[in-house]
Amino acid sequence: MSRDLAIDFGTSRTRVYDKARGLIYDELSVAAVDTRSREVLALGAEADELVGRSSDHVVAVRPLSQGAITDFDMAERMLRAVLARCGSSRMNRPRLILTVPAAATSIERRALEQAAKAAGASTANLLESPLAAAIGFDIPIHDAVGSVIVDAGAGTTETAVISLGGIVASRALRIGGLDIDRAVASMVRHDLDLVVNAHVAEELKIRIGSVAEDLAPVAVEVHGRRPMTGEPGYVNIEGSMVNRAIRDLVQQMIAGTIACLSETPPELAQDAIYGGIYLHGGGAQLHGYAEALSVATSVAVNIDQDPTTVVIRGAGRCLEDIGRLRSLFASASRPQR
Ligand SMILES: Nc1ncnc2c1ncn2[C@@H]1O[C@H](COP(=O)(O)OP(=O)(O)OP(=O)(O)O)[C@@H](O)[C@H]1O
Ligand SMILES: [Mg+2]
Repeated sequence: MSRDLAIDFGTSRTRVYDKARGLIYDELSVAAVDTRSREVLALGAEADELVGRSSDHVVAVRPLSQGAITDFDMAERMLRAVLARCGSSRMNRPRLILTVPAAATSIERRALEQAAKAAGASTANLLESPLAAAIGFDIPIHDAVGSVIVDAGAGTTETAVISLGGIVASRALRIGGLDIDRAVASMVRHDLDLVVNAHVAEELKIRIGSVAEDLAPVAVEVHGRRPMTGEPGYVNIEGSMVNRAIRDLVQQMIAGTIACLSETPPELAQDAIYGGIYLHGGGAQLHGYAEALSVATSVAVNIDQDPTTVVIRGAGRCLEDIGRLRSLFASASRPQR
């Protein structure tokens, strides 16, 4: 019997939801690949580890960037491996719902659809992420009431206003948590003369980074290499240094939400202000982000207690109604905006 699965193929993480079992897969969107055969040897955190322990012909591949597939062949191979991990096979081709950013171009949508089919899906239905998120937040999406959804992802930051089951305004920036990590790494290199890897930069952001200025000063010791000599070194970094490094990017993200609200028809914007902004995505957990967004927009901000799985849980719920939601999927394969 064929199985139905929902997949959120994100820039940083891939999540899969099974109708019967719920969230069954949540791993980094990375595969360890043998460069000679292009075979996927491991997925997610295991892939990262394997690459560290293997010879030069095993490399880490990330097939997405800024919310879109950039390496079609690897995206297909990775999806095939993810589907196999989730129990699908050639004999048992699943029907899929795949979430796609509202800002995805028609070429990007087609690439995702085709990669999923080539990877073994019997059908690949696209669902726009803001609608999936709204369902995940339990918002009645078919009502004539405007709701604002903000996704602070790793590769994109998207604000969308939805009403009557569709997206009436959206503003997407192809910047996100990964760009914040890069800004932190670049600050450490320029101000402290130390090269740190992406994991260290992300850890700094999560542990001591903040959008709020008035946090008690905390410092952590980080290890890396000196850029000129390659020798190991370490420095102490204070939260205020991280905050300065990330400030501009966070302001741009917040400006995206403000721009989207200003383009929203006034009656819907009024509803949205009344209902509050629904914030999700990994970046929603950045210290002070929700408060700063609320202050800048003068709108209350609601966050789910598990902000990184709102999209996949919403898409998962649509598995119940694959037949009935056909119009939602069809419009997602042809971007209107
Ligand atoms: N506590 C935290 N504070 C700040 N950032 C965090 C925190 N936890 C996770 N993140 C960041 O959230 C991002 C991952 O979020 P998410 O899983 O929503 O991304 P994604 O869905 O893969 O990306 P996209 O939707 O842009 O394709 C990473 O950049 C990660 O560093
Ligand atoms: Mg996402």
